[in-house]
Amino acid sequence: MRVALTGATGFLGLRLTRELLRQHGSLTVLAHAGSGDALRRITRFMELTDAPAELVADLPSRLRVVETDLAQPRLGLSGDVFGRLADELDVIWHSAGNIDLDDDLVNLRRVNVEGTRNVLELAAAGAREPAVHHISTAFVGGALREGVRYEDELDDTHGFENGYERSKYEAEVVVRAWSRAHGRPVVILRPSILVTDLPADPELPAHPLQFITRIATSALRGADLAGADVPDEARPVVRIKGHLRGHLNLMPVEHAAAVMVRLADRSPSAPVRTYHVVHEHDVAITVLAALVERLAPVKLRIVEKEPDDPTPLEALSDLYPGFTPYLGHRRRFDDTRVRTLLGSAPSGIHVDIDYLSAGLSVVPSARQAASAA
Ligand SMILES: NC(=O)c1ccc[n+]([C@@H]2O[C@H](COP(=O)([O-])OP(=O)(O)OC[C@H]3O[C@@H](n4cnc5c(N)ncnc54)[C@H](OP(=O)(O)O)[C@@H]3O)[C@@H](O)[C@H]2O)c1
Repeated sequence: MRVALTGATGFLGLRLTRELLRQHGSLTVLAHAGSGDALRRITRFMELTDAPAELVADLPSRLRVVETDLAQPRLGLSGDVFGRLADELDVIWHSAGNIDLDDDLVNLRRVNVEGTRNVLELAAAGAREPAVHHISTAFVGGALREGVRYEDELDDTHGFENGYERSKYEAEVVVRAWSRAHGRPVVILRPSILVTDLPADPELPAHPLQFITRIATSALRGADLAGADVPDEARPVVRIKGHLRGHLNLMPVEHAAAVMVRLADRSPSAPVRTYHVVHEHDVAITVLAALVERLAPVKLRIVEKEPDDPTPLEALSDLYPGFTPYLGHRRRFDDTRVRTLLGSAPSGIHVDIDYLSAGLSVVPSARQAASAA
């Protein structure tokens, strides 16, 4: 069986690559043209995660890298190469995307919406009618901040918190329309926010919560507290808008990849099957606040309303506005379909402050960066 994967060098894609190589002898990597040696990056990831030496040694023969640009018609390939690639595939996993919540909608749409359309064009052209597994996000649920989002729901009635959510929603609309038009099944996998406790490494894709270390570093600089052991009473207060009872779903990325591969294998061949790939427990917003306090000598206060009179430190700390609304979320993602298919299979991973700070490797790096500045 010939399997292809887009986004294999990404935070999720690297884990999907590992899972898919457990099942298949080879994998076609539809890599991002011009963005660095994909085989080297995948090999580095395997080494850093203690993959068996035999697997690492065999990567050059098991991975076939095809350089593509998702945003171009035919993925930037010539007609011949595109046609031959399409004809040999049995399965296409589409994980590539632009996950920058604050990026311009035009850029987000180019990769997330047009890119998805171009991947579907590849699937449509394939003589063997390859199965399509599309990686979406639970956050297509948009700006509904309370209540429950279900796996069969897809609507824009609540609007979106940022351009990223909108672009991923539009991509799902495109996928569903394609499935209807071509009479082809699609599996849509919607993870929540992906996290890991694997320490950050300059050669690995950024952790999706890496901005927290940027905020901490900036707070250290702004408060002129670099390297200092600051007593509690001397910590400046930073107010940030959110909800004290807010919570977010953070899913360990390794477990997410394993669940996705199992779902794709077992999914009934209904036209479109959508799954919430989420952790069994949400994380309280107060835990994220405590995480910031662990990284920077500040006192974080969750407040109902954005302060009218932000201090210079508060202004400096607002480095990722696309994420800020999530601090007010109290919504849950229903994953009944996943549990029906796979049974109750908890990850066994406790996503707590220690788990999160391990993955951000924050304490030394944030302070060192601040004192170096
Ligand atoms: N990260 C999360 O928390 C999260 C949560 C829910 C859903 N998701 C979804 O999961 C998927 C994977 O996300 P991720 O965390 O792995 O993102 P990521 O680490 O930013 O990786 C993105 C991947 O897409 C590739 N890519 C970007 N632009 C491309 C283009 N024009 N042509 C070809 N390839 C391109 C990148 O290649 P290069 O590295 O070579 O540029 C990289 O392999 C996305 O669809 C995202 O929406 C992610």
